[in-house]
Amino acid sequence: MLLGASSLLLSITLCAGLAPKGPWDAFNYAPASKIVRPVSVRSTHGSVAGAQRLVKDASAKATFTGNSSYVVLDWGKEVGGILSLTINDATPSSQFSLSFTESPQFINPDRSDDSCHSTAAGDGDGVQSFRAPLAKGLLTQTIGQQRGGFRFLTIASNSADPLTISNISLAITFMPHWDDLRAYPGYFFAPNPGFHDVDFLTKLWYAGGWANDASGGPVEGPILVDGAKRDRVFPVTIVYNIILHQTILLRLLFRLMPCCSD
Ligand SMILES: *[C@@H]1O[C@H](CO)[C@@H](O)[C@H](O)[C@H]1NC(C)=O
Ligand SMILES: *[C@@H]1O[C@H](CO)[C@@H](O)[C@H](O)[C@H]1NC(C)=O
Repeated sequence: MLLGASSLLLSITLCAGLAPKGPWDAFNYAPASKIVRPVSVRSTHGSVAGAQRLVKDASAKATFTGNSSYVVLDWGKEVGGILSLTINDATPSSQFSLSFTESPQFINPDRSDDSCHSTAAGDGDGVQSFRAPLAKGLLTQTIGQQRGGFRFLTIASNSADPLTISNISLAITFMPHWDDLRAYPGYFFAPNPGFHDVDFLTKLWYAGGWANDASGGPVEGPILVDGAKRDRVFPVTIVYNIILHQTILLRLLFRLMPCCSD
């Protein structure tokens, strides 16, 4: 057992490097840049002129008119980090709030999903309010305001006065020790022609790998992990980690995959 463990460690060291390119890359959720933008508008309510522009290009603006008008932006996958947006126009009374949720089931302009402050009623987690008077220009969340583990962002006007914004982005803060989030040393590819979705297993692995990364990083300094909200470690998460980050383990166990150094 002891010998097994030490030869495993040695092999991991020898095998540091990138996974070869292949069809599995299409399933990798990790973005090429740590600055990500919302990919689509899930819904708008009330009056939000040009909401679709918020996902098209950084300089395109949307204008909220009326108290409680809101837009729900979809980031396409689980993200977490420091949000910023540009306030292009606001009156001295314009104000707005942000709410966050991982599942569309909990989209709500008045509260976030219950992942930070869980209560029996599911309403422990409120909104982040940005109150009047707003300063025009780039607004960036503080480290303390950053949010982990969300896919949907709701931006709601909280005043009758108009508000024009653009340039919504998020600087991912998990996995701070990795410059390139796509650079997995390992890979997983297991087409199953007998199943209605031949790529089901591969999708599952990469989704698990990304969810695992979104909870990860060395515990040093102000970083964000969303593991806390799950309040447990899934054994399967460890397996995802092993496979995507260290292909050699699979090789050792199953003699299936090529490795870089032998
Ligand atoms: C848009 O946001 C980025 C941060 O992602 C920032 O660096 C840039 O200055 C912003 N542009 C404007 C015009 O505010
Ligand atoms: C906006 O609407 C909410 C409830 O719908 C209300 O509580 C709040 O006072 C309104 N705010 C303004 C500035 O009118």
